[in-house]
Amino acid sequence: MNFSERVEQLKAELDKATAKNLEEAEQLRIKYLGSKGVFKALFNDFKSVSSEEKRALGKPLNELKSFAEERVAQWKAELSGAEVKHKDIDLTRPGMLGSLGAEHPISIIKREIIDIFHGIGFSVAEGPEIEDDWHNFSALNFPPEHPARDMQDTFFVKNPNGTEDYVLRTHTSSVQVRTMESEKPPIRIIAPGRVFRNEAVSARSHCIFHQIEGLYIDEGVTFADMKQTLEYFAKEFFGKSKIRLRPSYFPFTEPSAEVDVYWGLENELDHRITKGTGWLEVMGCGMVDPAVLESSNIDPEKYSGFAFGMGLERSAMQRFQIPDIRMIFENDVRFLQQFRSAL
Ligand code: DAH
Repeated sequence: MNFSERVEQLKAELDKATAKNLEEAEQLRIKYLGSKGVFKALFNDFKSVSSEEKRALGKPLNELKSFAEERVAQWKAELSGAEVKHKDIDLTRPGMLGSLGAEHPISIIKREIIDIFHGIGFSVAEGPEIEDDWHNFSALNFPPEHPARDMQDTFFVKNPNGTEDYVLRTHTSSVQVRTMESEKPPIRIIAPGRVFRNEAVSARSHCIFHQIEGLYIDEGVTFADMKQTLEYFAKEFFGKSKIRLRPSYFPFTEPSAEVDVYWGLENELDHRITKGTGWLEVMGCGMVDPAVLESSNIDPEKYSGFAFGMGLERSAMQRFQIPDIRMIFENDVRFLQQFRSAL
């Protein structure tokens, strides 16, 4: 057999070789690649072949050796893996729990409220946080210079040219206008979102907070529909079945009311949060003022509706006994992790 035939034969042999376990793989390694192995002998004999053969066979020989090395490495990797699988893995060991994020208390409250209104046919609407004067004020029946604008200490946003046409929205009522402009009745939406007011930050109030707005417009919607809807909400959300509506004022509703939920006076906490009255104020509401419908091109002769708006922070603070509103915005992980159970 000449040299090139030996190389060919070795290649065929290596192609066929298999190892059933680590021991066999090691024996094959010694046989072919060991210090007294087949390759050693071949490389020795290679020294004495003609220079023509050297040129022709040098490369294939080196490639064949690399191939053999790879096969051996591959057997060893596969076989040691298989052995570990059978011997060393304890399938009864408890898994490692990845760290899951916690749901923010405001998100929990928001989700619950959305769920309740979804159940009675309301869908979620959104609007921008930087809002123009029209959507935040004028279309909601706050004329320029109207004193009601002072009820809401507004953050104005400067344009590059120095004018101040934009504001950080002071309430989610702006989304009512945007929805009425883009949709035809019947309209049934709730709009959760962040709002901004230039107020001193303290344990009880913040310059950023969250509201959920509601709007229902259709033919023949009455004050009684509003009361029923809000009663249903109070039952579902607070677990309380008695509400009362107190006359109030908002420029965009007529008549307007403040909604109180009867909380009861069973324990000291009830006394504290209701200031001894048993009643807790939870939101503002009213029948959408015809002037507001007209501003958004909805015919007030044909359609009527009601709206309501509530803050989320107070509910979150009561529910989770959060003593300081600032904690809601600081997002200290030690605070946030307490809400992990919401998963
Ligand atoms: N936008 C009011 C506020 O921020 C809350 C409100 C009151 C919203 C009455 C309404 C409503 O939709 O009908 O104080």
